[in-house]
Amino acid sequence: MRVLVTEPLPGKGIDLLSNRYEVTVGQRGEFDRESRLLETIGSYDALLSCLSNPVSRKVLEAGQNLRIVSNFAVGYNNIDVEAAKELGILVANTPDVLTEATADCAFALLLGVARRLRDAESQLRNGGFDGWHPFGFLGTELYGKRVGIIGMGRIGRAFARRARGFSMQIYYHNRNRLDPQDEQQLDAQYTSSIDELIESSDILSLHCPLTPDTKHLINRDRLSRMKSGAIIINTARGPVIDEPALASALHEKQIGGAGLDVYEKEPEVHPDLLTAPNCLLLPHIGSATTETRSRMSALAASSIISHLSGKPDHAIPALVFQRSKPE
Ligand code: DGY
Repeated sequence: MRVLVTEPLPGKGIDLLSNRYEVTVGQRGEFDRESRLLETIGSYDALLSCLSNPVSRKVLEAGQNLRIVSNFAVGYNNIDVEAAKELGILVANTPDVLTEATADCAFALLLGVARRLRDAESQLRNGGFDGWHPFGFLGTELYGKRVGIIGMGRIGRAFARRARGFSMQIYYHNRNRLDPQDEQQLDAQYTSSIDELIESSDILSLHCPLTPDTKHLINRDRLSRMKSGAIIINTARGPVIDEPALASALHEKQIGGAGLDVYEKEPEVHPDLLTAPNCLLLPHIGSATTETRSRMSALAASSIISHLSGKPDHAIPALVFQRSKPE
């Protein structure tokens, strides 16, 4: 059987696959073009994709032998999941294994923005450190602040645990309310109105998936209703925020700062964000630790191995949906 891995990966994933199948590994970025996937996918039984690969309906239809797409990411908005379901192609992702790394990254962004680390560090590097002074880079402390978490899945909850350690007040909005024990454990209060959460938070951290409902969830109107001085953190998906609207809110000092790891049109970053004040920008590194990326590669590979070796759906380590059409 033949497996296409769209680009080199850390960890043992590729070895696990190569021990069993004929594996082709693409070059970095090679399969970010739909046309390249279309001309290649035809003879493969499994695809190990990255979030930058557009696994569209056309690609899935062209994959005449394709039985599984295993995405090297927890998010799978790059895959037309509905088309995959219709075609009976399984889709797997890499949940759980990247939760802590991504929550660390979101919290690092929060600390960086709250304490203005980027500007402070670059001033020092540029020779501008002229000694301690009472007004040097005054930031915002996190202690006692109200954090609003949108999307209380695994990563949202891991972020909440970190916020709890910093004695913050935790509020959240989620499609489904958590169990009372989970709320109690996290000391988190549910807010049914997303607008109320946005308006009342000192810090807003986004951890929801990108769906038609969450696209531009943070828009100009909602940004204008955030507290002045509020900080917004996004380690989820770029299109959850209307980027030009965020850039104007920062330039006009409607809000206090933003920490972003993801962008609407990656790898492009809106030019007005690059010049915005107190805006800390990372190149989509939420899950980028050696430990996590190794676990992701092993998990993505083992989903493929389980499926190609005929195990039932429930034995596939990280399946996005239950099969709707039998093989
Ligand atoms: C994911 O897994 O969805 C992350 O964004 C990748 O780092």
